[in-house]
Amino acid sequence: MPDDQRHLIEEDPSGDERMSNHSPNPCFAEILDAALSRRTALLGSLGTAVASMLVRPGEAEAARMAGDGPAAPGAIGFRPVPVSTGDAVVVPEGYTARVLIPAGTPISGPMPAYRLENTGAEQAHQVGAHHDGMHFFPIEGRDPYAGSSEDGLLVLNHEYIEPRFLHAAARGLRIGAGRMPVPAEGRDPDEIRKEINAHGVSIVRIRKQANGEWQVVQDVRNRRITGATPMEIAGPVRGSDFVRTKYSPDGTRTRGTLNNCAHGVTPWNTYLTCEENWAGYFVNRTQVDQKPELPREHERYGVPTGQARYNWDQARGGGDEFERFDATTKAASPVEDYRNEPNCFGWVVEIDPFHPNSTPVKRTALGRFAHEGVEFAPVREGRPLVAYAGDDARNEYIYKFVSARSYNAATANGSLLDEGTLYVAKFNADGSGEWLPLVHGQGPLVGRNGFRSQAEVLVNTRAAADAVGATKMDRPEWIAADPRDIRIYCTLTNNSRRTAEQTEPANPRARNLFGHIIRWREANDDHTSTRFTWDIFVLAGPANDSRTAAGQPLGPDNIFACPDGLWFDKDGRLWIQTDIGEAEQNRGPHEVFGNNQMLCANPVTGEIRRFLVGPPGQEITGCITTPDGRTMFINVQHPGANTAAEDFAAGRTTSHWPDGGNSLPRSATVVITKDDGGVIGT
Ligand code: FEO
Ligand code: CA
Ligand code: CA
Repeated sequence: MPDDQRHLIEEDPSGDERMSNHSPNPCFAEILDAALSRRTALLGSLGTAVASMLVRPGEAEAARMAGDGPAAPGAIGFRPVPVSTGDAVVVPEGYTARVLIPAGTPISGPMPAYRLENTGAEQAHQVGAHHDGMHFFPIEGRDPYAGSSEDGLLVLNHEYIEPRFLHAAARGLRIGAGRMPVPAEGRDPDEIRKEINAHGVSIVRIRKQANGEWQVVQDVRNRRITGATPMEIAGPVRGSDFVRTKYSPDGTRTRGTLNNCAHGVTPWNTYLTCEENWAGYFVNRTQVDQKPELPREHERYGVPTGQARYNWDQARGGGDEFERFDATTKAASPVEDYRNEPNCFGWVVEIDPFHPNSTPVKRTALGRFAHEGVEFAPVREGRPLVAYAGDDARNEYIYKFVSARSYNAATANGSLLDEGTLYVAKFNADGSGEWLPLVHGQGPLVGRNGFRSQAEVLVNTRAAADAVGATKMDRPEWIAADPRDIRIYCTLTNNSRRTAEQTEPANPRARNLFGHIIRWREANDDHTSTRFTWDIFVLAGPANDSRTAAGQPLGPDNIFACPDGLWFDKDGRLWIQTDIGEAEQNRGPHEVFGNNQMLCANPVTGEIRRFLVGPPGQEITGCITTPDGRTMFINVQHPGANTAAEDFAAGRTTSHWPDGGNSLPRSATVVITKDDGGVIGT
């Protein structure tokens, strides 16, 4: 999150949207503390207590892994790279990293070449900004774990933008990583159009060439989905009063997807893009000095009351395509103003990359929050489908969706995601947990408490989760399902807002500046269970404030902080990506971690090694390999974002990656191969 936007949301630099959970629900930190306290009392030592909450490869585990279950995950075979602060992507000896599709790369239509002066219309045919979650679909369009490893559709999210690196008009201005200045007559409409079109998703065919390098291939399926693309609304919220708009008076359609962070891949081989910090794109100046102030479907998500993140509502000459970002109540009816536009965001959106004329669909049964990503549990024929998702904001929750209908490989499609039960997690101090259903008519989710329908529950997912007593977490980011185990892992990136009261008496950290990874196992190894057990896989941080699953502190080969991206390869290696915000990177307590990085963990032994370090100012996002595991794609997002306003005005940036020289930095995908042609990570 750019520095100069932070005052608009909250002064705390470590989160993305302002904290809006003021419910009395307990925090995960309190529960962890309580558990640690109990164990401290039992064991008499805090150090022992912390270690006991961490998972070790105990005898039972080792026996299970070596027995009739799957074999242990493949060993990590590379030599770890050191932390670094250089302007480069560093990979282990014996590996090569090459840049692919930097922001602005032409992929469709007239294939407009990248230049800073590109128009809004040209941007709609180019790769967007701020690459994030990503998947490689083998070109045959079948099982993602089979098919071509040399030809496929790369589908990737574009989380947000850095306007000063996007517009020629920004050159020489003294601006930070936030918005462009607003002239008295309003913003240039095409500048805004370019910003909207730099958001969304890119679908691009890529193919391995004879020389081993990958290139963009022109293909009818190459496509940009942007902040303006028409979309269907499906599931219980479709047609409800909450999403009736001027654009779609019957509440069945909307425009665009925004702040697409991580993603998911359905068992029927479509792409799910997740809307994370969407609230700030809107503004609602309604009644700030009256009661009630904002409706809870705006307030609980942090829709600002002063100024929207990029001022898209402030276009010169106005117009529906821009004014829709001003959700202020201005008319008698919701279909005469834009009050319901924000309610059309915060969803998981399904995209079929193989059908370029298909309309993306917002699947509302999966809930509305700051969706980081969505991860499916391994599917079982004839059983319900299960998907997990985190709400990335301080003190928000972890969710699980269980489909009403059973999965059948021959007939499965997106409609499976339209009916089912959304649950929210409650973590108990004794290492157990439960999934609490968010179902209209059950428990507190009844009309007298303001939940008059399932649509109202879902539009207000956070409020519903507050009501049932879910556990406040330290910013849930990616979730990953171990393909060779039944455990689910989730990164909790940090939470500087954990108060002293919440950490008493035994929490080893006064503020969670470094994050951790938890994992859980469903009762009876059944992902539809409503009970689970949990433990901590790793506490990230410096050597004196960290612990791996093997009970060791992190050291030179693996210290890291603020885990975010998380992905299992098919051999069971767990890949961890970090996002130390650009304001903290290489400063203060985060100085020892260097630039953001990617590590590889063996979930059985707990071993972790650093695999990659990126350039300054960026975070590493997205991770996928070809089916053979021999080509890995990752993203470098927002290099140079830590450039100070005065340096930018003087023509300096902290990074010139990937083009070098004195170029402006651009987000890009990185293709990683092993020089001996082997599987990545071995
Ligand atoms: Fe977009 Fe939660 O990272
Ligand atoms: Ca993320
Ligand atoms: Ca993050």
